[in-house]
Order: sequence, then structure tokens, then C-alpha cells
Amino acid sequence: MDKRIEGFSKLTKAEKINWIAQTHFKNPDKAKSILASYWNVNSELQNKHDEFIENTLTNFYMPLGVAPNFKINGAIYTIPMVIEESSVVAAASNAAKFWQSRGGFKAEVLDTLKVGQVHFLFNGDSSLLHSFFEKNKQELIEATNAFSKNMKRRGGGIQSITLNDKSSLIPNYFQLHLHFKTADAMGANFINSCLESIASKLKELARQKHKDLNEGKLEVVMSILSNYVPECLVRASVQCPITEFIPEKGWTGEAFAQKMIQAVEIAHKEPYRAVTHNKGIMNGIDAVVVATGNDFRAIEAGVHAYASKNGSYTSLSNAFIKNDVFHMELVLPLALGTVGGLTKLHPLVQWNMELLGNPDTKTLMKIIAVAGLAQNFAALKSLVTSGIQRGHMKMHLLNILNQMEASQNQKKIAFEYFKNHTVSVKAVGAFLKKNSL
Ligand code: MEV
Repeated sequence: MDKRIEGFSKLTKAEKINWIAQTHFKNPDKAKSILASYWNVNSELQNKHDEFIENTLTNFYMPLGVAPNFKINGAIYTIPMVIEESSVVAAASNAAKFWQSRGGFKAEVLDTLKVGQVHFLFNGDSSLLHSFFEKNKQELIEATNAFSKNMKRRGGGIQSITLNDKSSLIPNYFQLHLHFKTADAMGANFINSCLESIASKLKELARQKHKDLNEGKLEVVMSILSNYVPECLVRASVQCPITEFIPEKGWTGEAFAQKMIQAVEIAHKEPYRAVTHNKGIMNGIDAVVVATGNDFRAIEAGVHAYASKNGSYTSLSNAFIKNDVFHMELVLPLALGTVGGLTKLHPLVQWNMELLGNPDTKTLMKIIAVAGLAQNFAALKSLVTSGIQRGHMKMHLLNILNQMEASQNQKKIAFEYFKNHTVSVKAVGAFLKKNSL
């Protein structure tokens, strides 16, 4: 069967599904009914989701869970998390509970600058380009007036523009590097619109004032925001006296604190460990980023670049003891928005935002950084005490039981039995055979 097709996007949804089912599946009717079983009965809601992207066939569910009892700067939050990995929500909840009775989490926004660049080539005298830029800088900024008026009223807009000579990287390569503030919007559209206007103006001015550039030729390559935002930073932290830092019976606070510090130090020095350490942090970050309708790919790209800012990949979090008090903190870039994008379009995003008390963007940055720190704390706490598998296996057991279509009764007795037995697919299979209730 020919798997190529022309004009797929012009077909109706039903025609697309028919073609896909007939072309790619052994049992087309079954393939179609699986897609249909995920449609929402509310056709208005379904249409909304259909229109988020092109060629929508159905919905792909992810669980939305909540982690309660997060004390952040004195206020209590229940945090929504969208994630498929078992044990992430449980770990967040455990960390929230642990720190709630030890002063809670503190968080502060360090800065909110976002970045955009116009990349261009100039094959002339760079000192002439610099003076041309200084002379015309204001006019370049004014080219964005149509978009920035509103943003300025909301406290945002262009904060700075510089000309960077990058010709040591690529011959004739220069860039305009801009800083923006975008108030409560993530601001991608605003930034990109500003950059494109500036790029047009730059070309126009270069054409008009070519004598100033001594006929040097200027050619714009592209204009786009950067997802590397090392000046859009938030810090989350926890602290408690070592005497109260007891993870479970049999541990002293001192021993636990030392183990935690060693674990963080390994992630600071060793990239293989740092990547997994930061992945644990992103378990918490991404889950809330998705739940609040933000762009998790942008966040991931920016965070990992930030983790390598000094030339090698390292831990985003830090832990230390000062005056017999254990401290743990996380600093990371989070370019988020609470208006625009999906925030008004997706009913569950709105629901999650209301659950969080409709935070402004700075507050959301703090909440999300705390979710990352909580996740990191919970992962390290398991790793340096019982090991990660105890908690994971509990959730894993449920997944295996569901895969094997265990009844509610079988699940109940399996949970009891596997409290004292090792979980594996084989062991669960054998258990279910013996207990076929
Ligand atoms: C698993 O999703 C995340 C962890 O591997 C994080 C870590 O090792 O710190 C548990």
C-alpha cells in the first residue's frame, strides 16, 4: 500500500482518519474506534482541542494530579502536575509535607529579562557599522512603537539594544542583541514582532544611509527570540537546623545532611550524574509548566543551557551547612507567561491557574521553581537513604497490575503481599495466577 499522500491537510478529520486507518493498520476498524474512544462527547470542547494544532485526530491523555501542602513564602498551595511518570506527584507531596513543618519553601525572582536577536551579515568596516548603529539606535527602537505601546503600559517593553560583532565566529556576522520585559506574557509573539520590525528598519536605514556605511552591504539572516534567558532567574530554597533534619528513623540530621551535600557535590563535579540530577528537577518543573499551559520545550532548552553556562554541564541545585543549619537551593531560568498562549484557551489550564490562586508570572516562577527543588530534594532523600526503587516499585506495581488487568480485589491483596516481596513482572504474574479472584 502506498504510504505517500498529497493534500492530507485539506481532508476532513473523518477522511484523514479513514486514510490513516486503511493505510497503516492491520485492523482499520479497531484503529478508528481507539481514536474515537478518546474524543470528548462535548463537541465544542473537542473542536477547541482540534484547533490547537493541524491534522488533529484525537486527544492524547496525560494524568493531571495535585501535590498539596506546599508552603511557599508563608502561603499554602496545592500544585497541579501533568506527568506520566509514576511517583513524581507522590515525591512532591512528601517533600511538601517534610518542609511544611520546617518553615516551608522560600522563593524570589532575581530578574525577568528576556532576549531576542537580529542576526545579520555586514561586509564593510565594522567601526562604521558601530557609529551607524549608535546614530540610528533610537529609530530602530521606535520602529516597534505599534507593538510596544501596550506592553510599556503593562510595565514591559525593550530594555536594551546592543550591536555585537560576532565576525570571529563566522565571517561578517553581526547581531543586534535585545533585552525585553514582557510583564505577565511569555512574550514570544511580542518579541518576534519587535525583532522583525527592527530588522526591516535596519535594512531600510542601511539602504537610505549607505554612504555612512561606505557602501558596505548589510544582509539580514533572521530575527528570533532566544530561549536562553540567563537573566530571567528565580531562586527557591529551604533550610532547617540539622537537629531537625531527620529523614526517617535510624538517621541523625548530621549524617543525612552530609549525605545530601555529597550527592549534590557529585552532581556539581560529574556530568553523567548532573544530567540525571537535573532531570529529577525537571520532573517537577515540566509537570507544572505543562499544567499551566507554558512551553516546556523552551523551558527545557533554556534550563540545560544555563546548567552549562560555565563551560561544563553541572547541577542546578546547591546544598550546604552554615551555622548548624542545612540549606538547599535551586536557581534556574524560567521564561513563563500567565496571559496569552494557551492560558485562556485550555479549560484545564484555567482550572489549574485558579487552583493556584491565579498567580501573576513572578508568583508562578516561584511556585514552579519550588516544585523543581521539592522534586530534587525528594529524589536525593530516597537515593541516599532507602534507594530509589522502594518508592518507584510501589507505583510500578500498580502499572504492572493494570497491564495484567488485575481486578480491584487482586490489587488490594497484591499491595499487601508486595510490601515484603520484590516487585517484578514475573513475580506479579505468578502472584496473580495463584490469586485469580
Ligand atoms: C527519575 O525520574 C529521576 C531521578 O533519577 C532523579 C535523580 O536521580 O536525582 C530519581
